[in-house]
Amino acid sequence: MLLPKAYVGFKIQDVALKILEGNVDLEVWEQDEAPPRETLLTDLKDMEGLLSGITIRVDEELMGAAPNLRVISNYAVGYDNIDVAAATKRGICVTNTPEVLTNATADLTFALILTSARRIIEASAYLRAGDWKVWTPEALVGREVAGSTIGIIGLGQIGQAVAKRAHGFDMNILYYNRTRRQDVEAVVGAKYVKIDELLRESDFVTIHCSLDASTRNLIGEHELRLMKKTAILVNAARGAIVDQRALYRACSEEWILGAALDVFESEPVPLDEPLLSLPNVTTVPHIGSASRGARDGMAMRSAENLLTALRGRRPRDLVNREVWKKD
Ligand code: DGY
Repeated sequence: MLLPKAYVGFKIQDVALKILEGNVDLEVWEQDEAPPRETLLTDLKDMEGLLSGITIRVDEELMGAAPNLRVISNYAVGYDNIDVAAATKRGICVTNTPEVLTNATADLTFALILTSARRIIEASAYLRAGDWKVWTPEALVGREVAGSTIGIIGLGQIGQAVAKRAHGFDMNILYYNRTRRQDVEAVVGAKYVKIDELLRESDFVTIHCSLDASTRNLIGEHELRLMKKTAILVNAARGAIVDQRALYRACSEEWILGAALDVFESEPVPLDEPLLSLPNVTTVPHIGSASRGARDGMAMRSAENLLTALRGRRPRDLVNREVWKKD
């Protein structure tokens, strides 16, 4: 039997290969570096399926080079790396991996909140530099997290999981979402406010919306200037939601207390990025979903979505539902 051809754009875990092998004629890009554009344009020529990730830009040009493509299965919950409108026009299914990384990303968000509020990285460096000569009441004093106000931008699954954690810390929970989520407000104990009010009132502002044209640079100079001088901005969603130049000024000129970032406008973030020079900015390399459980879940879910679509069935996590006219 002729198997459908599919391309996996990065080294994927065995749990995904087990699902695909024997069912798909598979080609896997085995190197750590993302495949060069020219290679992708050639390699996708006959492919019916693509298992992509956030390092692969899937645009009109790439889809044009893959006339047989029927499914783009993204190994991520976010899919801003894919031109979904172009895929829909071509009748290509786009899928993502929701749910499996919700807890991991919410946990990392809280790790960032606690790390920056309690100056953990600075404290660790202080100890190792031999500066811990004596315990004093004022050394490395940070912000109290319990009982403070958190402002969640984007109350989707990850935003809700962050709210649940905030509840455990007795925090006052505000949220802003494109559409008000009255259905979950009571469940997670969050109060809907306009974005300006959220920025003015919150001690911690944390971003969990997706990146699209309406959220690009959502947080710029105007918004950062609305925040409290004692507030911390956390971003574990997408770098381009925040204007990095404005954030640098906000942190270096102390409009706000600091920031904690898992994501950047350009990734991997260049080492000469000015934000990296600031002691009040905590940075990690896009590890929101980097727990064993989440990553294996993403691998399996993206493989299942790919296989289901290649078998002509509606994949579980179809993003562009309008493409599925068969039901
Ligand atoms: C996602 O799933 O969108 C993450 O950012 C990648 O881990």
